[in-house]
Amino acid sequence: SGPQFPLPANEPEVHFGKGTAAAAELSQALAAREVVEIPTVIGGKRYFSNDVVEVRAPHDTQRLLARIHRPTQAQVDEAIASSKAVARDWASLTHASRATILHRAADIVGTRLRMKINAATMLGQSKTIEEAEPDSACELMDFLRFNAYNAQRVYAEQPMSVPTAVNRADWRPLEGFVYAVSPFNFTAIGTNLTTAPAIMGNTVLWKPSEKSALANYIFFEALEEAGLPPGVINFVPGEAEMTTRAVMSSRDLAGIHFTGSSAVFQSLWKEVASKVESFRTIPRLVGETGGKDFVLAHPSANASEVAIALIRGAFGYQGQKCSAASRAYIPNSLWGEVSTQLRDRLAVLKVGDVADPDTFMGAVISQASHQKLSRAIEAAKDDAGVTVISGGRTWSEPGWFVEPTVLQVSDPKHALMTEELFGPVLSVFVYDDNAWDETLTLIDATSPYALTGSIFCTDRFALHRAESVLINAAGNLYLNDKPTGAMIGQQPFGGGRASGTNDKAGSYLNLLRWASPRVVKETY
Ligand code: ALA
Repeated sequence: SGPQFPLPANEPEVHFGKGTAAAAELSQALAAREVVEIPTVIGGKRYFSNDVVEVRAPHDTQRLLARIHRPTQAQVDEAIASSKAVARDWASLTHASRATILHRAADIVGTRLRMKINAATMLGQSKTIEEAEPDSACELMDFLRFNAYNAQRVYAEQPMSVPTAVNRADWRPLEGFVYAVSPFNFTAIGTNLTTAPAIMGNTVLWKPSEKSALANYIFFEALEEAGLPPGVINFVPGEAEMTTRAVMSSRDLAGIHFTGSSAVFQSLWKEVASKVESFRTIPRLVGETGGKDFVLAHPSANASEVAIALIRGAFGYQGQKCSAASRAYIPNSLWGEVSTQLRDRLAVLKVGDVADPDTFMGAVISQASHQKLSRAIEAAKDDAGVTVISGGRTWSEPGWFVEPTVLQVSDPKHALMTEELFGPVLSVFVYDDNAWDETLTLIDATSPYALTGSIFCTDRFALHRAESVLINAAGNLYLNDKPTGAMIGQQPFGGGRASGTNDKAGSYLNLLRWASPRVVKETY
């Protein structure tokens, strides 16, 4: 009950064209040389430690941005105790008062912190402003407003009453705390992984990725300023294994809200399963993980549209999106035109400093990622079944750079067509124009992941067949569009198979996972 929030509109993007006031403000934020000390925050108290991890700009590894003060195991335990202490009070608030905090936090980011959080995302995660603004400003605010809105839809759901029995659902949170583990690639995901359980009345222990901790901490401070009571979300940027071990040893772990690699999510799942009787309640496990997302063109498609979608879908944010196009299936008749356009357009795209407004791609996130990608590209060059169509260079001064790379693969079952690399590498298989049905079956059979996919096709019957054969090969399917850039409220996001539990981030379906209703029947 309480005030009803109207359906929010998506936060519009600010444009940062050369010479605009927004561009000037952003470059000021980017130029700030302050090294931020990021503490562990438990019950509103800040802890600084000797166990410090440095955060450096991936495209300029000399540039120190922040120092993360990791918690000790005892502090992780303290964070769990602090969530427990505040859990009942938080659960007993009305939805309206919890929602007010989320709305206020969105307004604080939108009106006062936009440049700061965008700059932190650009520098810390190596994003251009074209990629940062839709993430750390717009999607972040959308998650807050839509989670507030969607919670009220959940709370409105009530069982039927009859003349002799009044039935109601008490929408309780889970009994215990939720462990939120957020990734480096989208600042907004940390916002969702924490506030989706929190809006439903849960308390949360938040372990952000070290690589995005700077932007995530700016958001955390906005939540505090918006009036989030201490202890409801504790900010615990701990070493992954130690933090997870401490969390798993608590009887009060009630759920995990995760975005990251399939391997890590599967290991969390196994760990929970192996000791399930040690928890008070069976933990809810919600994960959005990897992808090997396809772009399929039909002979009826327009070659330029396909090439542009491939460039934006495969190389936006250096291909480090779980939704990124990483394998393409192009008919023989279109390949000449598509490959020429890929070569010509990629040749003029700038890779470098994200603060330069002409840059299209920054650096990949880390040395480890750079090594993995460099090895895969070198192996491809030595592979007789692979042709380098474009790119193929990597360099490590002043940061971790990988050129946008297109590889044509002769075997559609090659690892380059099935395994996730999480970087700017697109593998292409060219199929015979007459083999549409076989290609559909092939894609489905070579999809261990099932997150996103795109089909470019102007033949309605062929399109219909594709949608039906590929029914389980993607949780988000795009027709005549790139496979990235889902909008909150418009394309609830998530996939199946090894890509996760498909609990649709940003929708009420996700919020249902954070509630455990009690149904009460009263007779008279
Ligand atoms: N939600 C992000 C996208 O759609 C991952 O690209």
